[in-house]
Amino acid sequence: MRRPMVAGNWKMHGTRASVAELLEGLSDQSLPDSVEVAVFPPLLFIDRVVEGLQNGKIAVGAQNCAVQAEQGALTGETASSQLVDAGCSLVLVGHSERRQVIGEGEQQLIEKFRAAQAAGLTPVLCIGETLEEREAGQTLNIVGSQLGSVIAALGIEAFTHAVIAYEPVWAIGTGLTATPQQAQDVHAAIRAQLTAADAKVAQAVRLLYGGSVKAANAAELFGMPDIDGGLIGGASLNADDFGAICRAAGN
Ligand code: 13P
Repeated sequence: MRRPMVAGNWKMHGTRASVAELLEGLSDQSLPDSVEVAVFPPLLFIDRVVEGLQNGKIAVGAQNCAVQAEQGALTGETASSQLVDAGCSLVLVGHSERRQVIGEGEQQLIEKFRAAQAAGLTPVLCIGETLEEREAGQTLNIVGSQLGSVIAALGIEAFTHAVIAYEPVWAIGTGLTATPQQAQDVHAAIRAQLTAADAKVAQAVRLLYGGSVKAANAAELFGMPDIDGGLIGGASLNADDFGAICRAAGN
């Protein structure tokens, strides 16, 4: 049995005041023990989020890490070992906004994935197709190649301590959610690809869906056999909505 996970990616949102308010709201939520809950605040707020979530029910992750695990001369970057020191246990790798807007390449994110694991962080590898790619019937090729390049570089064993998030780019922040069946089809293909490399690893790895998940559509998505939770953007900035999504994963 895979333990569902619901993770909130706050992206580049938050001020000291709004983060304090969100932390207060999160501490009021009743969260199911059966669900692993995590938040990914902007780096600037990691310290105060770790401190504010002292009860330990919500894990904290970073949205990015450097290509090297250890501290060094790399202006503006954050080593995964520093993230561990700050209290993080997870890190996002390869979010589409980083691939597309920042221009992060495959080789870079493979190095980040490796560096994260070297420091003891669990990487959450984000993969997904654009609208153009979906309309061209390329979804499974794109997602398969994004996953395949990490498997080829780091081996299937790397996925014993990793999470995968399928986030169709066209569904991110658009209000357009993949239907549960559309998401399930891609998740099943991802799991089949992992199974071809190692069936045991494939059965254990959590596959999260991300892209306009809301309290209203979460239960239906999470009810699909290969969807093990969600990576939530916009709705994770509202504690009540995020709490409701976490509870949907527990049912
Ligand atoms: P939205 O939930 O805002 O669509 O964002 C999804 C996402 O990109 C999470 O990483």
